[in-house]
Amino acid sequence: MYLTKEEEKMIQGEYGPAIEKAMKVIVKVGESLGAHRLIDIKHAHVSGLSYLTIGEPGLLFIKSLKEQGAKTKVFSTLNPVGMDLSNWQKLGITKDFAEKQHEIVKYMYDIGFQESLTCTPYLIRKPEPGEHLAWGESSAVGMVNTYYGAYTNREGGPLALMSAITGKTYKAGIHLPENRVPNIEIVLDDSVDFSDPGIAGIIGYLVGEKVGSGIPLIRPKIKPGFTAVKAYTAAAGASGSIAISVIEGVTPGYKELVKEAGSIEKIFIEKKEVIELLPDRNELPDLIFIGCPHADIDELMDLKRILDKCGEPSIPIWVSTSRYVYDIAAQHGVIEALEKKNVLVIRDTCPVVSPATRRRFKKIATTSSKSYFYLPRMQKSPTIVIPFEWIGEYACKERN
Ligand code: F3S
Repeated sequence: MYLTKEEEKMIQGEYGPAIEKAMKVIVKVGESLGAHRLIDIKHAHVSGLSYLTIGEPGLLFIKSLKEQGAKTKVFSTLNPVGMDLSNWQKLGITKDFAEKQHEIVKYMYDIGFQESLTCTPYLIRKPEPGEHLAWGESSAVGMVNTYYGAYTNREGGPLALMSAITGKTYKAGIHLPENRVPNIEIVLDDSVDFSDPGIAGIIGYLVGEKVGSGIPLIRPKIKPGFTAVKAYTAAAGASGSIAISVIEGVTPGYKELVKEAGSIEKIFIEKKEVIELLPDRNELPDLIFIGCPHADIDELMDLKRILDKCGEPSIPIWVSTSRYVYDIAAQHGVIEALEKKNVLVIRDTCPVVSPATRRRFKKIATTSSKSYFYLPRMQKSPTIVIPFEWIGEYACKERN
């Protein structure tokens, strides 16, 4: 691989052992993927920080990086961890777990990461079309490529961390414009409503299953909004490994990408496939969960609107969001209103990456098809997926 003079100095250890090691890893991965050079990035986003998933080996790795003097070179954010840092007792997290999780977060802040702890880092720093990033977290990767038109591969947490402290990534995969061209068209049944985030997630789930790692082209009848695209990309990156979709009216450079694609294979998504994934409306869950990816302000306001129409919900509701969105919602009185309805608003974490959920619920209803995919696998929690508009029906239902 060709390296600039500055990159040579970095890999030869002139800037310390942390940068030397990080450069060696990035170059090695890049070479294995056929990259001929490195590129500068504007923003790194590191996933895989829950003590539940990385345990003691992960904690010691991060500690050693910090002790070697690692410092972030670019704007760098962190994915959710295993608990709400300031409200972990309410989630039933043990003191021992909380201490370990705090330790991990402290090392990352010492290295220079922003106080973020969210899978929606694009709300903290808005990505520009065409800029290069190194992001972990498949949902954020799908969103940033599809909705914002910025460029990142689906990185693992450790590699994104190496990019954070060097400001570099390898030039391969979808950093190359020719690798962003759609190769399969998804034809949606006209009566499938892509604008409901719950349904958009189900579409993503089906697309992920059908397409695997391809690049889907979608021409929805009605342009989906931000929250729907967020739900779609998260699910498509969970049931499949889709890192970019090309959506009419949404994806920057749509016309050029479609022209480049030419004539491509088509596959169909019928309304009955969507309906088959929905539960029987009489099945009552013991938890409703919203906020995977972390809820944005519109979702919080929509939830408030739905709950305003009923008394105290008959089923507990958990919402996970970022501190960034939480603070905006709090300023508008939305958090207070939700808490009055006994909604638990969680920051810094989510039920998928927190031990708080494990085997605790008999049936979780969620508007997130990503959670529908992961909660049974990671937390052994039976889960059903519902459209956003069903929340009122479930939450406001009288229980016998
Ligand atoms: Fe975010 Fe947790 Fe879902 S990290 S995308 S809320 S699984």
